[in-house]
Amino acid sequence: MSQYNFDEIIDRRGTNALKTDALATRYGNPDLISLWVADMDFKSPPAVADAIIERAKHGIFGYTGPSQEYYNSIINWVDRHHNWKIQQEWLTFIPGIVKGIAFVIDCFTSRDHQVIIQPPVYHPFRIIPSLHHRIVKDNPLKLETGQYKMDIDGLKAMIEPASKVLILCNPHNPGGRVWTRQELVDIAEICYEHKILIISDEIHSDLAFSPNKHIPFASVSEKAAQNSITFMAPSKTFNIAGIVSSYSIIPNKELRDKFNAYLESSELDEGHIFAYLAAQAAYEHGDEWLTQAKDYIWKNITFVDEYLKVNIPQIKAMIPEASFLIWLDCTELNLSQKDLVSLFVNDAKLALNDGTMFGHGGEGYMRMNIGTPLANIQKALDNLKKAVDTKQMHR
Ligand SMILES: Cc1ncc(COP(=O)(O)O)c(C=O)c1O
Repeated sequence: MSQYNFDEIIDRRGTNALKTDALATRYGNPDLISLWVADMDFKSPPAVADAIIERAKHGIFGYTGPSQEYYNSIINWVDRHHNWKIQQEWLTFIPGIVKGIAFVIDCFTSRDHQVIIQPPVYHPFRIIPSLHHRIVKDNPLKLETGQYKMDIDGLKAMIEPASKVLILCNPHNPGGRVWTRQELVDIAEICYEHKILIISDEIHSDLAFSPNKHIPFASVSEKAAQNSITFMAPSKTFNIAGIVSSYSIIPNKELRDKFNAYLESSELDEGHIFAYLAAQAAYEHGDEWLTQAKDYIWKNITFVDEYLKVNIPQIKAMIPEASFLIWLDCTELNLSQKDLVSLFVNDAKLALNDGTMFGHGGEGYMRMNIGTPLANIQKALDNLKKAVDTKQMHR
């Protein structure tokens, strides 16, 4: 068992990484500590680079399809990690999950239809349907004892004949919830009854921390399986978002035929050589890397939580049950959102995501990406403490 070095500081500047090289345009300062866009500052499992390099040495990159081993690696992974037995015919490559959401919206709804989301939630859930001129309806999550819960009664009450799709973030970004079986069953029942198609975005599923266990939405009941399109990917899990290798899983033949025909009409289901290879390599050889990465991420989460409790008690971390994003409750600082963002960016020199981009419930929050070496986090929190102390001295 090799020990991977997640403490290694790797300079990403100059690679066109959004996280570093878009700081100047997005935040007006290229030198901030970058804790925003959701990728990690860790090297992917070595097997991924090895597979790409080995294939690159061949030197011919003509039209290339997915191999049987690629499909097997996904089927085995989903079974091994999520206890869900999927069939190869349910699987289709898609060029990214946000694009997949757009395809579903385009394929299954029309202009006057409503798309239900559960904010605060990953912002493209709102932006993509809106850009497609669909009506986005909020079924806000409820904050109960510092954790988000689904508002099942609220969902029942808001459904209208025009409600056609619900986009589920499973697990949840930015709150980090791993939804319970009961929550998923409830959603499945209601949506089945009202013929609302569910998109289950499970991009963060491999990153659930024990004892939490991700439950694939479609696995909770036959109604869930027959009325959903699941999206998964190795991109967050193994830090290969730039390679773009996602897939849809659709057990229902009618839905699958319709969606796949839509994809095929523009060849959107065709991946590229390295997308297939990287996914396969990660799924076949990445287990140990993932175990160690999750341990490291969990230690970072614990560090942030303890640091805040001792040094900046006005800011509270919502402890994620999955993934490397921490939702920071900054409401006790009593700042307007503009001043809160300015405190982080201009005073503390930190680039986090402004909570309001996640919609309803995001006011007073910031999202911090802790998929980075601990040394970066220590520095960031020291900066934040100084900025908060100074601000409060001058009040
Ligand atoms: C919930 C969720 N879905 C999708 C994505 C992006 O997926 P993709 O890069 O495949 O479009 C992210 C990235 O942060 C995410 O958090």
